[in-house]
Amino acid sequence: MNTEILSYFLPPRIEFGEGDIANLAEHVRAFGGKKPFIVSDAGISNVGILRQAVTPLEDANLSYATYLDIEPNPTDISVVQGVEVYKTEKCDVVIAVGGGSVMDAAKAIRILTTHAPPLEPYYVDSGGADKIRGDMPPLICVPTTAGTGSEVSQGAIITDTSLQTTNRWRKRAIVTRYNMANLALLDPVLTVGMPQALTAATGMDAITHGIEAYVATKYHPISEGVALQALKILGANIRTAYHHGENIEARGKMLLGSCMAAFAFQKGLGAVHSIAHQLSTDAPIPHGVANAILLPPVMEFNLPHVIEKYADVADALGVNVEGLSKGEAACAAIDEIRELNKEFNMPAGLGAAGLDREKIPKLAADSMLDHCHKLNPRQCSEQDMLYLLEEAF
Ligand SMILES: [Fe+2]
Repeated sequence: MNTEILSYFLPPRIEFGEGDIANLAEHVRAFGGKKPFIVSDAGISNVGILRQAVTPLEDANLSYATYLDIEPNPTDISVVQGVEVYKTEKCDVVIAVGGGSVMDAAKAIRILTTHAPPLEPYYVDSGGADKIRGDMPPLICVPTTAGTGSEVSQGAIITDTSLQTTNRWRKRAIVTRYNMANLALLDPVLTVGMPQALTAATGMDAITHGIEAYVATKYHPISEGVALQALKILGANIRTAYHHGENIEARGKMLLGSCMAAFAFQKGLGAVHSIAHQLSTDAPIPHGVANAILLPPVMEFNLPHVIEKYADVADALGVNVEGLSKGEAACAAIDEIRELNKEFNMPAGLGAAGLDREKIPKLAADSMLDHCHKLNPRQCSEQDMLYLLEEAF
């Protein structure tokens, strides 16, 4: 039995159902909100998804303010600008409508509505977890992709423009239990229009969360149970969601599975995420694509340390493991990830995805600064990061 005192969090309230977005005004009022602040991005607005969120507010005569300038890798600059709008408009509830970038930015904005700027002291590597208090406006997260699971995670990844590592900005994490949304509203209708490539990238991000969380080196049986069930749901639905995007049931299951996988990763992640966080700022390779490419080589690297657990992963993903030894089943899990990548037309390697090979040494060094790999089942040195990046290239 582990003798360390551990801290486990259960997810926030989750509402899941087709058409639930129509109840958004009621949810705002249930929190005592009179003027919600909607954080989103231009893409979500342009394809009409934002409209589905603001119509119920307008129908209920609830005035609101919007901030739509969130970038794909949100910076501290847009966070500070968002806070200014929130305060000028005298809002009282934060609603994030979007993918991981939007939800992460909304979490950071929410922190600065009641905590003195700048963001610097609140990053996890500045000891931020001890400085963030719970006195913040309610947060409703409405994910429009099925992958990041930011709606139930304690983390927010922000690109810190004040800090340069090896001649570029660095992504930094804010991790606190107070980052948890007060309500995660999962409506699959908002995800049916997602293009195939985004469905694949975000879906593979969710699968990576499930796998890395399951094998992370922390005693957390609650998360491990949820991770396996998430992988089961994701494995059974990712192909249908990719090939038949209009299938509302598969979309709903992907949304729920990604939410569960993110709940599971409160246990921790691993080397895939440490490297992927660097790739999406420096290459730039989208987070989910970077994960999909890195997952097989990292799993091979970890294999001798987690054979039984990877065998469980194969089974959860729906691979037929009957008659296979644990070792064979573990290898079958890695093969299944390769199969999914091929079926989803993922780039064959980081080079094909646009990475300049000369950047690899810098990326390896920067990956070591990311906290995720500390719970990887096999310890990683900078040399290992170099090897993994070369293998994935
Ligand atoms: Fe991720």
